[in-house]
Amino acid sequence: TGMVTVDPGFTNTASCESTITYIDGAQSILRYRGYPIEQLADNSSFLEVAYLLIHGELPTTDELEAFTDRINRHTLVPEAFRTFLGTFPRGGHPMAIMASAVNALATYYPESLDPHDDDAVELATVLILAKIRTITSYVHRSMQDEPLLYPDAARGYVDDFLRMTFQRPYEEWQANPTLVAAMDKLLILHADHEQNCSTSTVRIVGSSNATLYASVAAGINALSGPSHGGANEAVLLMLENIRSGDDSVETFMKKVKNKEDGVRLMGFGHRVYKSYDPRAAIVKKHADAVLDELGAKDELLEIARGLEEIALNDDYFVERKLYPNVDFYTGLIYKAMGFSPAMFTPLFALGRMPGWIAQWREMSKDPQTKIGRPRQIYTGPTERDYVALDQR
Ligand code: CMC
Repeated sequence: TGMVTVDPGFTNTASCESTITYIDGAQSILRYRGYPIEQLADNSSFLEVAYLLIHGELPTTDELEAFTDRINRHTLVPEAFRTFLGTFPRGGHPMAIMASAVNALATYYPESLDPHDDDAVELATVLILAKIRTITSYVHRSMQDEPLLYPDAARGYVDDFLRMTFQRPYEEWQANPTLVAAMDKLLILHADHEQNCSTSTVRIVGSSNATLYASVAAGINALSGPSHGGANEAVLLMLENIRSGDDSVETFMKKVKNKEDGVRLMGFGHRVYKSYDPRAAIVKKHADAVLDELGAKDELLEIARGLEEIALNDDYFVERKLYPNVDFYTGLIYKAMGFSPAMFTPLFALGRMPGWIAQWREMSKDPQTKIGRPRQIYTGPTERDYVALDQR
């Protein structure tokens, strides 16, 4: 099949054609289906964006209502599944639980598995979007050793997610509109990002005709790594280390620049953005307002700002075009909302779910799709003869 060239990390290989998300990394442009991320973040809602990504157009009022209703009617999870979610050891990483949960979900809904049946795929889409909000909140609650609440189909997606996550026993739930709006915006910002590591994983798993569940569970696992979605948690741990005095901002930056023990400034750099990540710009703009409203003026925010200030003016970062990415400021907001750092990446997964689903559906309808099967350049030994065990 002609010349094979090695392209580590696929920096120069397009794996597909896509109509979903456009990025211009030099100009800080991100658009979903042509709509600028800034406009969607300001005006839209998470489920509206989910519909846009999956179906290609913004929904009409009726379409959005029907989509929302359908999702709301499926937010309950089977009791046995609830029990299963409670069986993981305390302190187990929530991303491992989340991936296991989505994988296991497939066993309850055999009628939604056939990747070639449009109705089954639509049902799987709705089931996953509905149940991932419940699953994410259960993961948080079981980490806190708190009882798992039932979803309330009458509430909005984000409102009910926060209620199931944070409502205290015997207390009324008062939604804080600032909190709901901020969470909604963060989910929109994470909803898709074209062929990143987890999305490429979802597509390649799906290319073997594996189910939507198996494919997005694989995406959750890919997202868990600290070079990808796990960076938001790593940023907060880095900021806390600096605050606790293990490192000053200056000594930490020196380590980063000397590449001591592979230390990186977490939340900085991006394969595609060689200028400011537009999502980070939106988060940064809102971080102040949200932290103010939550009464959580945060020393860590000052440290983060200090690191950014130094980095943006330092040759090491300037030469390599390293700017803050989406993960740099999100953790501070999640923390102010009451999430533990271990929950930050699950929140990323919750937000990314519509993108993974949209990309999987595009892949599965694309006549150009073939099973993902990269080639290699073999560099091992040439042929040699087997040597008997007693002669080695
Ligand atoms: N701190 C210090 N140096 C860095 C950083 C960083 N955060 N990122 C890249 N570099 C340096 C790297 O050492 C290399 O230097 P040199 O040319 O001297 O060898 C150069 O910049 C290019 O880096 P690379 O690793 O070849 O770039 P990449 O496109 O393969 O990696 C990245 C992209 C995001 C994995 C990387 O920038 C990184 O590890 N960042 C920190 C982790 C992070 O914040 N990840 C979140 C990414 S955005 C959201 C998401 O995907 O979840």
